[in-house]
Amino acid sequence: MTAPAPAPGEAAFRDALGRFASGITVVTSIDAAGRPAGFACQSFASLSLDPPLVLFCVARTSTSWPKMAGTGRFAVNVLAAGQRDVCRAFAVSGGDKFAGLSWTRSPHGTAHLDGALATVDCTIADVHEAGDHLIVVGSVRELDARDGGGPLLYYRGDYFTSDHAVADA
Ligand SMILES: Cc1cc2nc3c(=O)[nH]c(=O)nc-3n(C[C@H](O)[C@H](O)[C@H](O)COP(=O)(O)O)c2cc1C
Repeated sequence: MTAPAPAPGEAAFRDALGRFASGITVVTSIDAAGRPAGFACQSFASLSLDPPLVLFCVARTSTSWPKMAGTGRFAVNVLAAGQRDVCRAFAVSGGDKFAGLSWTRSPHGTAHLDGALATVDCTIADVHEAGDHLIVVGSVRELDARDGGGPLLYYRGDYFTSDHAVADA
């Protein structure tokens, strides 16, 4: 019997998985004291159409997640091409990430970032433990989609925009 191959190391994992390009979101909530919380999040995905569900994965070390979990609600803000600095502001722990940003309090108790391409308001339906992250499943309560501008994209640690579709061969 051959021994199972050792699990890949962190560098190999990041290198291979970083080749999966995605959009970027900021997941937000407003805590019981009325303070907004949020973090940059690439692991957002659409999950189910009927019922409408989405998911994201959050590190167990996140300082924003415990504040969100207590509210039972979150909003996913899909970032537009011009929002690289917004992403950077939400990719740090601590401080007032919302300072200097234009945003509004939604009726769902979440924070909507001005200029986002779409906002998905959810209630927390389920939280699953998975390694050093949690998988958070949300029931979609309201959707807001806006036209104008393309998405902010993330690939191998860099930010990209795309203003054209790949033509047919
Ligand atoms: C492009 C990008 C995508 C990210 N995606 C995630 C993610 O999916 N899940 C996660 O937990 N952290 C993700 N992060 C890291 C968090 O945004 C970062 O750790 C942040 O400091 C967490 O803030 P918090 O401690 O307030 O929760 C991402 C960061 C960047 C720049």
